[in-house]
Amino acid sequence: MGRKFFVGGNWKCNGTTDEVKKIVSMLNEAEVPSEDDVDVVVSPPFVFLPIVKSLLRPDFSIAAQNCWVRKGGAFTGEVSAEMLVNLGIPWVILGHSERRRLLLNESKEFVGDKVAYALSQGLKVIACVGETLEQRESGSTMAVVAAQTEAIADRVLNWSNIVLAYEPVWAIGTGKVATPAQAQEVHSELRKWLHENAGAEVAATTRIVYGGSVNGANCKELAAKPDVDGFLVGGASLKPEFIDIIKSST
Ligand code: G3P
Repeated sequence: MGRKFFVGGNWKCNGTTDEVKKIVSMLNEAEVPSEDDVDVVVSPPFVFLPIVKSLLRPDFSIAAQNCWVRKGGAFTGEVSAEMLVNLGIPWVILGHSERRRLLLNESKEFVGDKVAYALSQGLKVIACVGETLEQRESGSTMAVVAAQTEAIADRVLNWSNIVLAYEPVWAIGTGKVATPAQAQEVHSELRKWLHENAGAEVAATTRIVYGGSVNGANCKELAAKPDVDGFLVGGASLKPEFIDIIKSST
């Protein structure tokens, strides 16, 4: 396979300037695998992007947690992909379930448009998909995540700058992590979907990472699964155990 391990840290809407500086110091002092082996991307709130970028160790990268769907202008409160590029922010998280459902009801088509526009501006994208507990219990997990992935694939030809994050909504922030078998099942089905709809090369090279209550205790077993190429971590990315998660592929 040879897909480089990827660990993202989604700080969500958390932090003060002092707290952010403490987290970055903790990260900067950590002994971790070489960047040749693991991509580490931290994602602070917009307001802390410049300071985190200025303080963060050079072997780690940085992501915004969202960006607008087209060129900037009269879109109050939005942050454009161009602005992120101008700030030297290389990554952006798009399609997070907290934006799809809880906050702004972003449709899968809207997320697909955002992914395409961000890529067109030179950003690399962590694209999130995932089902709700109700959808899982009704047996529609694969139908849901395939439709979300299709809405991206309909708008994107080049997947080389996309990391696909499977984040079951029922596992986000709940402590109810997916079992390694559950994660592997969906990841392998997503890889099969990519093979059938985006081609063998895309399927073989696209990293599919898991998100949803990952912590220092459960990361190793999840990372051992063949189609789990890393993680997108929420709560634990603000804590020292994030370093254990970064090391979990070794
Ligand atoms: O984007 C990652 C996030 O949704 C997972 O959150 O706190 O369950 O690790 P958490």
